[in-house]
Amino acid sequence: MSSILVTGGAGFIGSHTCVELIESGYEVVVVDNLSNSSEESLKRVEKITGKPVKFYQADIADEAAMNQILEENDIFAVIHFAGLKAVGESVQKPLEYYTNNIAGTLSMCKVLRAHHVKNIIFSSSATVYGDPAEIPITEKCPKGQCTNPYGWTKSMLEQILTDIQFADPEWNVILLRYFNPIGAHKSGLIGEEPNGIPNNLMPYITKVAVGKLPQVNVFGNDYPTPDGTGVRDYIHVVDLAQGHVKALEKIKENPGLKIYNLGTGKGYSVLEIIENFKEASGVDIPYVITERRAGDIAECYADASLAKEELGWTARFGIREMCADSWNWQKNNPNGYSK
Ligand code: NAD
Ligand code: UD1
Repeated sequence: MSSILVTGGAGFIGSHTCVELIESGYEVVVVDNLSNSSEESLKRVEKITGKPVKFYQADIADEAAMNQILEENDIFAVIHFAGLKAVGESVQKPLEYYTNNIAGTLSMCKVLRAHHVKNIIFSSSATVYGDPAEIPITEKCPKGQCTNPYGWTKSMLEQILTDIQFADPEWNVILLRYFNPIGAHKSGLIGEEPNGIPNNLMPYITKVAVGKLPQVNVFGNDYPTPDGTGVRDYIHVVDLAQGHVKALEKIKENPGLKIYNLGTGKGYSVLEIIENFKEASGVDIPYVITERRAGDIAECYADASLAKEELGWTARFGIREMCADSWNWQKNNPNGYSK
């Protein structure tokens, strides 16, 4: 039976996707250099599913290692999560970000082509829309100006994969534009483990909840939104993971190039998230209003109807479950995977 190669499979979204793939009957091979993750997450995937995960610790840019993986395994498709993703760090280290994300993907695609593996699902982001021209955002909304190198790597890789597919229609490329993934697996065994002080809202809130940070800084309350704070489309990571299983089914139809938003279609403000988290966890979350964060936009939420029509996928979990599951993971693993 052929397998699915999951690059970056030890990471937050990758580990959840491994669980959903295995539970849908797929065999999974993971390649990860563990630059932002720990092998423990894969042990937990095995614990949840009761099935082994074949793991290679390697960099996607290492052509010899990638060749070996493709020789040793019969790979049907690649789900490509591997990449660096810290927005602020990407501004400080553009060379590292462009090299890791773009050069790494280029090397990998050459190896894939040499092994006639031409099915790829790519982790893109709503960040490619920049300050979106329309809300809710459909896939027809033009791509915009990114505010940081991380965002540009996503935008450029979308273009690169589009060009590869155009030149050789044997390729099937599905670009999945994620909105804001939060939550964790119900078991509380796998979840998000950011390095250092989190940049994103939900991991920041959970650190405040466990007492590791004193309060949430709410970045501005003068946006043109109902309560003045930024509005985003938060999506449960398990829903997002299931979106990949659906995309894999789609790729079997040889669809060529496809682009889908993966979001819920509903926006929540920062204050609404804090409130929902408090209610879901029973823990008070102190906050202060501070300056706007550079590069932030007022609102961003998806029109997710295309994924519903073409993939038969919709997000099932609501904001309360997202908060409850983020909390369940954090309180059971206050130090992430390192106990
Ligand atoms: P993550 O950092 O938890 O996972 C990425 C994984 O890739 C890590 O395990 C890391 O060790 C690995 N990796 C990085 N560079 C590698 C390389 N050169 N070779 C091999 N492995 C490498 O991040 P995540 O939140 O799970 O995100 C997964 C993907 O989804 C990323 O591409 C990210 O940019 C994208 N994405 C994430 C979000 C989000 O909010 N989490 C939103 C939109 C898109
Ligand atoms: C950020 C990234 C985006 C990336 C996405 C998911 C920026 C400019 N954008 O998006 O490229 O794809 O994460 O990883 O960094 N907020 C606070 N206090 C905090 C943290 C956030 O008020 O401590 C607010 C933000 O202003 C925003 C909302 O919470 O309104 C969500 O922020 P965040 O979780 O960082 O996601 P995005 O800004 O959507």
